[in-house]
Amino acid sequence: MIENLNLISEGKAKSLYETSETSELLMVYRDDTSAFDGKKKEALKGKGEINNKFNAFIMEYLANNGVETHFLKLIQENKSLVRKLDMLPVECVVRNIATGSLCRRLGVEEGIKFEDPLFEFFLKDDDLGDPLINDNHITAFGWGTEQEISKMKEITFKINHLLCELFKKVGLILVDYKVEYGRSNGSLMLGDEFTPDGCRIWDAETGESLDKDRFRKDLGDVVESYQIVAHKLGISL
Ligand code: ATP
Ligand code: TYD
Repeated sequence: MIENLNLISEGKAKSLYETSETSELLMVYRDDTSAFDGKKKEALKGKGEINNKFNAFIMEYLANNGVETHFLKLIQENKSLVRKLDMLPVECVVRNIATGSLCRRLGVEEGIKFEDPLFEFFLKDDDLGDPLINDNHITAFGWGTEQEISKMKEITFKINHLLCELFKKVGLILVDYKVEYGRSNGSLMLGDEFTPDGCRIWDAETGESLDKDRFRKDLGDVVESYQIVAHKLGISL
């Protein structure tokens, strides 16, 4: 029973609980949806369940293709067990097509396709608006080591290669995404989630957004769009 578990953190979209196993956490995907560093918020019915199942599918796909992740198992509609990690306070973003904050920051045209995907680090700090940082900031402030930076880049690009292919096969374009890493017994692995909340996915034919941009831009049918993507990928909901 979840009531008996100790809540250790309540983020904007997920809650984490301790379990009887000290090395494992219960991750609860809530319907809460937020954008603009928490300034826009709404509960979207059914989103927690879709994201939990979406994430389980992607994490298992990545693990089967040699990416070590914290995911252990899906245990209920909106709950999964994960390995407890010591999270690095940075977000790794890969972009295949220019949009979002990149265009606002640099004044570049939307839609430029990168032959070599672009990698960016952001500091996980909502109060500061998750500022862009570079490798030197990470080592200077002790947020991670040089080795960890190399590993984060290597794994994040590998994920990009694997998921671009997977999405392409079903008529979807992976535009950009954010992933996070943490340490377990000294080694770094993929943590947090991979869901339409943290990436941009476009329909290859129509260019329609099927991700959290629908919420950011008030386009409607947010959960329905996540369902379309899940359906195309063969995820049973
Ligand atoms: P954001 O939406 O910007 O990621 P948040 O912190 O509000 O911010 P949530 O998804 O609600 O995000 O919360 C999940 C929290 O759990 C994040 O702080 C994330 O770094 C942390 N986390 C993810 N996986 C693990 C793990 N395996 N062990 C410990 N903490 C984790
Ligand atoms: P980005 O374009 O930097 O941000 P914005 O959503 O403000 O335009 O985001 C790039 C991708 O990374 C996008 O798919 C959303 C995801 N992302 C998050 O999910 N959380 C974050 O804190 C950041 C920085 C990015």
